[in-house]
Amino acid sequence: MKVLVVGSGGREHAIAWKVNQSSKLTKLFCAPGNAGTSSFATNVDINVLEIEKLADFVKKEEIDLTIVGPEAPLAAGIVNFFKKEGLKIFGPSKEAAELESSKSFAKEIMLASKVPTAKSEVFTDLDKALAYIKQEQAPIVIKADGLAAGKGVTVALSLEEAEKAIRECLEDGRFGDSGARVLIEDFLDGKEASVMAIVDGKNVCPLVISQDYKRLLDGDGGPNTGGMGAISPTSVIGEDRLPEIIETVFNPVISELASRGVEFKGFLYAGLMVSDDGTYKVLEFNCRLGDPETEVLLPRLESDLLEVLSAAESGSLESVELSWSKDACVGVVLASKGYPLKSEDTKEVSGISTTGLSTDSN
Ligand code: AMP
Ligand code: GLY
Repeated sequence: MKVLVVGSGGREHAIAWKVNQSSKLTKLFCAPGNAGTSSFATNVDINVLEIEKLADFVKKEEIDLTIVGPEAPLAAGIVNFFKKEGLKIFGPSKEAAELESSKSFAKEIMLASKVPTAKSEVFTDLDKALAYIKQEQAPIVIKADGLAAGKGVTVALSLEEAEKAIRECLEDGRFGDSGARVLIEDFLDGKEASVMAIVDGKNVCPLVISQDYKRLLDGDGGPNTGGMGAISPTSVIGEDRLPEIIETVFNPVISELASRGVEFKGFLYAGLMVSDDGTYKVLEFNCRLGDPETEVLLPRLESDLLEVLSAAESGSLESVELSWSKDACVGVVLASKGYPLKSEDTKEVSGISTTGLSTDSN
């Protein structure tokens, strides 16, 4: 099979690295890819949002399956466009991807399907939002409704911090349209875990559980980022709880979407907050694999990822069971100075080959 992986991050490097081990693979492309993927795949200079160009490339190269890494092309409708053109692609449609691209839509689906989640309200009006936080008091969580690259959430420990975050969204336009609506949510105490699954439209095939460390600084301090590292497995919640999580979180959401005429096919990610007593609530949904979680999940996967994703794309996951290594995996993110607010992205990373860490296909 000829395969195209769309994206340029560590997650896409991990997906491509795993697909490259498949006995079914004949040729692997990444668009645009990165220096890591260039060591075993062909990087193609097309941006993830250049959907028509990507489709033309897939037709020209007769690519059998496209796998989408990041959320932006999904929210922009890459799957809808490819399907219209008769091309095979694994990922959710734009309508299904709203679970991630609109936090208020995700809340509505969770409430309708009785998935455990925190109480919240949505605001577009600054004064009403400020009145609400005074009524609710801190700690409280302020979320830009739309996509903000993992940076649109403020866990405010004081009312001043909450007010600043609300003003950034509704007054200063820090996140543009994504912040034109804010969701204000009860603060949840606990430890987080990331649960992901491969979904074929009806069947849910869970991946092992991982834990993302979101805070910027050593000792789990500082502001939230898109993720500074990850581990799998995690002591936060055991893998023996996966059937229960599928039953209480994944299946209800997929059924609720189906009842609204929306099929979910793709990777589905539930971010859970787990309390000391082992109960959990959903913090967010993502319609893709997590980054940096993927980098610690896929090295543990013993099954052929390409075979599984082909089965999922064609709606035949029911007989698939994944096999996992019992080994633990740890990933650490190196970020350029200034991250997550404003970082330089032109710095060269060198010396990887001298660390003993492999970027090749093995
Ligand atoms: P989200 O994008 O909604 O997952 O939020 C990003 C991060 O903010 C989460 O991974 C948590 O670390 C934190 N967070 C989000 N919602 C809450 C909440 N209700 N209570 C406490 N922390 C939260
Ligand atoms: N690591 C969190 C995410 O991918 O959204």
